[in-house]
Amino acid sequence: MNEMKLESMGLYRNIDRVDADLASLGVGPDDPVRVDQLTSFDQFHYEGTAAVDDAAVALQLGPTSRVLDIGSGLGGPARYLADRTGCAVTALELQTELHNAGRRLTSRAGLTDQVEHLEGDILNGPPAGPGFDGIVSMLCFLHIPDRTTLFTSCAAALYPGGRIFIDDYVELSALDPASVTALAEIVHCPYLPDASAYASHLTDAGFVDVDVVDKSSDWSAFVNARYDAFRDGRENLVRRYGEPTVAGLDTFYGTVAELFDGAGLGGARITARRP
Ligand SMILES: C[S@@+](CC[C@H](N)C(=O)[O-])C[C@H]1O[C@@H](n2cnc3c(N)ncnc32)[C@H](O)[C@@H]1O
Repeated sequence: MNEMKLESMGLYRNIDRVDADLASLGVGPDDPVRVDQLTSFDQFHYEGTAAVDDAAVALQLGPTSRVLDIGSGLGGPARYLADRTGCAVTALELQTELHNAGRRLTSRAGLTDQVEHLEGDILNGPPAGPGFDGIVSMLCFLHIPDRTTLFTSCAAALYPGGRIFIDDYVELSALDPASVTALAEIVHCPYLPDASAYASHLTDAGFVDVDVVDKSSDWSAFVNARYDAFRDGRENLVRRYGEPTVAGLDTFYGTVAELFDGAGLGGARITARRP
């Protein structure tokens, strides 16, 4: 079992690198910023804003919708959804540094009326207050092995009829021991259900209309292209972030690409509805 802290994962270290990314666009650390200036580095999932567009369609979001984003990271998907659809988003994030950075970016993007940032753990239950019409969660649940508490909390967060949209890892076939260790220690994914176990976890928590779409080959192509682009730009990134940050990202992006190249790890887009 993985005993390292989530904060130590390469993607989550040195979050102030966002300032360096914005500086490369000529945006100063306190300047206002537009959502479209952020999207190339505030989306910590696969296929960028196209995946968030898919979530908006699946959840049928519009200006009156209230959405819970679980594991919101830097708040990229939350801001993008709010900006594109006019919906209100509660962005729930476990890690203090990411929560604070996300909240600050939302303020600089002028979206505080629509995007509320909450620091917390979904395993402690849904946010207090009125329920949500939809939940979006992109590449967060892979960090959470306790699916019973997780999906019970998700169901409790939704109004009857509300939908959940999840991008997550699934097992395609048994992983070799080295891959299990890399997945747990480098990617902080200690538990990997197959698609049918995933669907059962959701139905056990009361969800219906569970639909699982295989994203494995799309995501394998995405993470490999991401790692190729990262290596091509490595020297520039070392100048921008410094070597220790780049080394952490290198290990993370490289490990993920290698895992998706193997036969065992896959990806899935899962939707379901609370009756
Ligand atoms: C790969 S990031 C994705 C961030 C964001 N969804 C995105 O696509 O840009 C996963 C996030 O889930 C958060 N997370 C993990 N476990 C969580 C939990 N139990 N409750 C809330 N957030 C959690 C992590 O801290 C991390 O920021």
